[in-house]
Amino acid sequence: MSEDVSVGALWRRWRDELSQRGFATATLDAKLLVGHALGFDALQLATRESELVSRLLASDVTALMTRRLTGESVARIIGHREFYGLEFELNEATLEPRPDTELLVDFALKALPQGGRFVDLGTGSGCIPIAVLANRPDARGVASDINPRALEMAGRNAERNGVSDRLTLLQGDWFGALIPPPSIPPHKGEGGDGTDGSGFDLILSNPPYISSEIVETLAPEVRDFDPRLALDGGPDGLGPYRIIAAEAAHWLKPGGQVLVEIGYDQGAVVSNLFEAAGFSRIGVTKDLAGLDRVVSAHHI
Ligand SMILES: C[S@@+](CC[C@H](N)C(=O)[O-])C[C@H]1O[C@@H](n2cnc3c(N)ncnc32)[C@H](O)[C@@H]1O
Repeated sequence: MSEDVSVGALWRRWRDELSQRGFATATLDAKLLVGHALGFDALQLATRESELVSRLLASDVTALMTRRLTGESVARIIGHREFYGLEFELNEATLEPRPDTELLVDFALKALPQGGRFVDLGTGSGCIPIAVLANRPDARGVASDINPRALEMAGRNAERNGVSDRLTLLQGDWFGALIPPPSIPPHKGEGGDGTDGSGFDLILSNPPYISSEIVETLAPEVRDFDPRLALDGGPDGLGPYRIIAAEAAHWLKPGGQVLVEIGYDQGAVVSNLFEAAGFSRIGVTKDLAGLDRVVSAHHI
């Protein structure tokens, strides 16, 4: 791209290139990436169409489009994504939040009692607890992840969305993150589990739930760019659910609830895990596409 080019001509040229290469969202992708490189929002992109773009900026656009053409998602390239009406920054350690996960947030908002306390296990970008807290100023939460780089991003996202004073971030392996120092009585003491010592009203999680074998067959956009730690649920994809089902009751108040996101074919098997662990009133809810998406289970 050596000659001077206008804003409008630039995004249309890339729209055509993406479209010819089979990208279904070519127009949106081209506008977002050109807008990102130029620092333009959608309105500026529309009203400044005829302005000329410097060669330096045009080559920045080429670099972004080259990444897109290899299958990297627009959200990952621009480094942020919208979830539940809020903006979330992303890094290499965070899963890109998915619209499907908004169902878990809807559920949590309904299930959380006034002044309630919850924990989100495997929080990634922090999209779940931050969306809950942004809509429930009375609530407090704990978010954990095994990956410190993910927690770093969750912390930035909590700041950005104005909930950091009500979200405690803890690093560790599932419930292991919550274990208080030996000087504090296990999980009933002040501070260690982020509650007042009486346990959580809700345990939330969207854990990795794809079997290791299937991860290899996912679309390149997911397989090659979302972190493997966020996708791979072990040989049968159920490893994290086994841990959550086995240990959740220990951390819940009586009458508390677990809400987990699941894969479309895991409704029955995940329900069975919670039933075997002594949970009651177990339900499976479908997403807008009619696929099983959330399992809820009550601690008696
Ligand atoms: C499917 S992602 C979900 C991220 C985020 N909650 C969301 O919905 O977008 C699963 C998350 O679990 C974390 N994770 C994987 N293994 C873990 C473990 N053993 N203990 C705690 N977190 C873990 C990953 O780092 C990742 O952030």
